[in-house]
Amino acid sequence: MSSTDETLSNLSKEERRFDPPEALAAGANLKAEAYERAERDREAFWAEQAERLHWDQKWERVLDWDDPPFAKWFVGGTINAAYNCLDRHVDEGRGDRTAIHWVGEPEGDTRSVTYAELRDEVSQAANALVELGVQKGDRVAIYMPMLLETVVAMLACARIGAPHTVVFGGFSSDALATRIVDCGAKVVITSDGGYRRGNPSALKPAVDEARAKASERDGFEVEKVLVVRRTGQEVEWDDAVDVWWHDAVGGASTEHQVEFFDSEHPLYVMYTSGTTGKPKGILHTTGGYLTGAAYTHWAVFDLKPETDVYWCTADVGWVTGHSYLVYGPLANGATQVLYEGTPDSPEKGRWWKIIEEYGVTIFYTAPTAIRSFMKQGREIPDRYDMSSLRVLGSVGEPINPEAYVWYRSVIGGDRAPVVDTWWQTETGAIMISPLPGVTAGKPGSAMIPIPGVSADVVTEEGESVPNGSGGYLVLTAPWPSMLRTIWGDDERFKDTYWSKYAQQGWYFAGDGAKKDDDGDLWVLGRVDDVMNVSGHRLSTTEIESALVSHPKVAEAAVVGAKDEDTGQAVCAFVILRDEAGDGGDDIVQELRTHVRKEIGPIATPRQIMIVPELPKTRSGKIMRRLLRDVAENREVGDVTTLADSSVMNLIQDGLKGGK
Ligand code: WT7
Repeated sequence: MSSTDETLSNLSKEERRFDPPEALAAGANLKAEAYERAERDREAFWAEQAERLHWDQKWERVLDWDDPPFAKWFVGGTINAAYNCLDRHVDEGRGDRTAIHWVGEPEGDTRSVTYAELRDEVSQAANALVELGVQKGDRVAIYMPMLLETVVAMLACARIGAPHTVVFGGFSSDALATRIVDCGAKVVITSDGGYRRGNPSALKPAVDEARAKASERDGFEVEKVLVVRRTGQEVEWDDAVDVWWHDAVGGASTEHQVEFFDSEHPLYVMYTSGTTGKPKGILHTTGGYLTGAAYTHWAVFDLKPETDVYWCTADVGWVTGHSYLVYGPLANGATQVLYEGTPDSPEKGRWWKIIEEYGVTIFYTAPTAIRSFMKQGREIPDRYDMSSLRVLGSVGEPINPEAYVWYRSVIGGDRAPVVDTWWQTETGAIMISPLPGVTAGKPGSAMIPIPGVSADVVTEEGESVPNGSGGYLVLTAPWPSMLRTIWGDDERFKDTYWSKYAQQGWYFAGDGAKKDDDGDLWVLGRVDDVMNVSGHRLSTTEIESALVSHPKVAEAAVVGAKDEDTGQAVCAFVILRDEAGDGGDDIVQELRTHVRKEIGPIATPRQIMIVPELPKTRSGKIMRRLLRDVAENREVGDVTTLADSSVMNLIQDGLKGGK
């Protein structure tokens, strides 16, 4: 039985159902009728959602799909994302509402800001960026920990129409340099460091290195680096380039004249892993994206901005942080928590303590986190009063039924429904999810597309599969927050997402899924060479390239193997160069450190196996399926298409005998 079949048959045994709580159902933002209403006239439905934003000039046309797959939404409309996230609330009398309760990792290090205060800081930062030479259309890279200034920096860019590209702070200087060069960032915003597990951890040195690499490798010069002082640790300083945030922003005026941009003006570029070594810069534009983020955040979490306290634990370096920590919640005028540190610092109950302290009502996190808490036991969360919670969200990877039930019962007190939200960097916003006041939840199922979204599970040939069967997940109609292209690479955009079902004009998500007997969807995971480790997307090829850049490595193949904690884990098979001999005693450690340095800690292989050969087809393609069998300790599957069928024996004998 293949692992997918196994998953399918386990899942079909799952029969627990959880009806929406009555009170929630009665007062739900979105009711069941919305599905039909959206189906009847999709564009009218989305236009209605766009009305929740402030447009300086209203659009003339909802959707221009004349040149697919290049979409234009709310054509002719003008809008400013930062104005919608801040000024509008102040102008409409919500300026005193708390926008963000920022919680630093060191205990007691907190700061809460209102919408009015945040608007002032963003105006200051916008003025400072203009002063540094940033103009509409220029790109700005942001490499920061989870600080208030990070949100301020993003919104300041949005305010002046300079697309930002936020690079996750856990990426290495190499990865940062690649992204800076690819999108041509004029300015980088960073901090001296941040707190991780009780200790200051430096960030600025990686920016210095990335700047040097960009210059040496690609002749690309970053003009300015704006540095927030967070930890006070020592930093190298280049007077020609480096500028302190507190000087530039602190000294700037809080008055900034807002400008409204075309609905299709680029808002940001978010890099994500694809099936080749080169990360893809996913481009999101303004009007449609903000509509999608605001609508879904309101509908899927049933947000009541006057009374809810919302908390999304994602890092702003990922798309979840963009849509559900910055743009969605702020456009909706929500009050939210932003936490700087790790879940277990200074003690294991830190998250639950924050929920108790701030009375968090809506909580959005990832299955990998839930599984690690499950392992620690319910005694820890049980110490805290979390009765304020009313909706729980999950994102990033399939949530296994046990984790779902534990989440609902231990964290949600058997009261709060769990919404398992499926979406991607590319979709910009949640696409498939239960509605907490409408849907009876099934542990492990993301259920059906939300109103306005249209999805299906289809065969290789594009036939819709019957209930009870699996296939490829596709989105069958354009949606406002869809990616517009891959930065600088329209061809790759068409190729990656739109070529498989070109005839039908469908978006190919790259995920396998199943329809159960009721027609509800179960997302099973990637069908391409992309891995999902702790909800982070990693490309097998990217890690393979990192490995072969090591002087002792001749060839490498990477697979994602099932892992109890992280969903999947990186397993690498490596052939050493002849002159490297057996590589030395520390070869495995040496290679792990190397990958860490090339890409970042999240990409570090759990396992590296030194092998004499790799299984290849006659055309030279590595058969990862067989390597996955080895990594997951299964009997090796069909080897008949191998160029040399004895290779698998060689690999397994080598592993038994050696390290
Ligand atoms: C991939 C997208 C969406 C923000 C976080 C990740 C997987 C995501 C779910 C879910 C099953 C999920 C898919 C998808 N995924 N959410 N609820 N159930 N799988 O964004 O890095 O762009 O990754 O994450 O495989 O394609 P991303």
